[in-house]
Amino acid sequence: MGYPVRRTRRLRRTPQIRRHVAETRLHPARFVLPVFCIPGRDTAEPIGSMPGHYQLSPDRAAALAKEAARAGVGGLILFGIPSAKDEVGSGAWDPAGPVPESIKAIKDAAPELVVWADVCLCEYTSHGHCGVVADGEIDNDATLPLLARAAVAYADAGADLVAPSDMMDGRVAAIRTALDEAGHTGTAICSYAVKYASAYYGPFREAAQSAPAFGDRRTHQMDPANRREALIEVDLDVEEGADLVMVKPAGPYLDVVASVRAHTQVPVAAYQVSGEFAMIEAAAERGWIDRDRVVLESLTGIARAGADLILTYFAVDAARMLEELP
Ligand code: PBG
Ligand code: ZN
Repeated sequence: MGYPVRRTRRLRRTPQIRRHVAETRLHPARFVLPVFCIPGRDTAEPIGSMPGHYQLSPDRAAALAKEAARAGVGGLILFGIPSAKDEVGSGAWDPAGPVPESIKAIKDAAPELVVWADVCLCEYTSHGHCGVVADGEIDNDATLPLLARAAVAYADAGADLVAPSDMMDGRVAAIRTALDEAGHTGTAICSYAVKYASAYYGPFREAAQSAPAFGDRRTHQMDPANRREALIEVDLDVEEGADLVMVKPAGPYLDVVASVRAHTQVPVAAYQVSGEFAMIEAAAERGWIDRDRVVLESLTGIARAGADLILTYFAVDAARMLEELP
């Protein structure tokens, strides 16, 4: 009698078998690298809180795009920092602005990349809010045509995909209609459907010079306490015509990523935001963590939660790390 010795299956997993059967596999083609675009030529301004990242002129953005494509990265998402800001953010739809110019340069340099253009007004408004402000409040409906105009400007320049990050109600439908009317029926929309009012955006606001001059974004971004509400936001945006939906930030919201993945049929993107990036870089700089392992582990967690695409400031680095894995 007696029971057979129970041997764990783990013992029969050599490193080769482990790789063979891994449930989650990172692939650089599913990475999207955020890029900050400024006007000018041959300029790269370092961003203090984001080591290794720069505000780039269109020619330098194109050079980075080439590098990213060579590493196998699937796409780039562009943010613009204009030379001048105003009350309504009119730089957002300037066809000669840094984003349209960079789109054209990137399309020339690396046609295989998917070029995303973030659509929001906060980098372009003097007050730093994502919409037009009337009597100290954001005017949702007055903002919609301006977002649509910006989206069309980026599609005109050759963007494959526009990604509205403002969280105004009705923006996806407004943008879809405007794109179609302008003949851009093939331009996709990835909505930042699930965007939390997060403290993890700090370094980005330095990089994009887009911190609100007064108030905050809690009126239109989501409450970190809520998960079910995320599914309502997803349904609304898909109904309005979103081709993909995004959850942001990623790491602190993996349960939301998993819920959204289970809930919707469209591709789900997750954004590992500037604060998540900066925390890893800062701890690594102090020698407190093994940077490369933490980078891949953080991305694996996001993929395991169900993200189809990952927006990450580590895109190029991680792509190279994956190449070097045995
Ligand atoms: C602009 C926008 C923000 C981010 C992406 N688009 C900042 C914000 O909402 O204040 C944050 C990205 C990051 O932190 O990396 N609407
Ligand atoms: Zn914004």
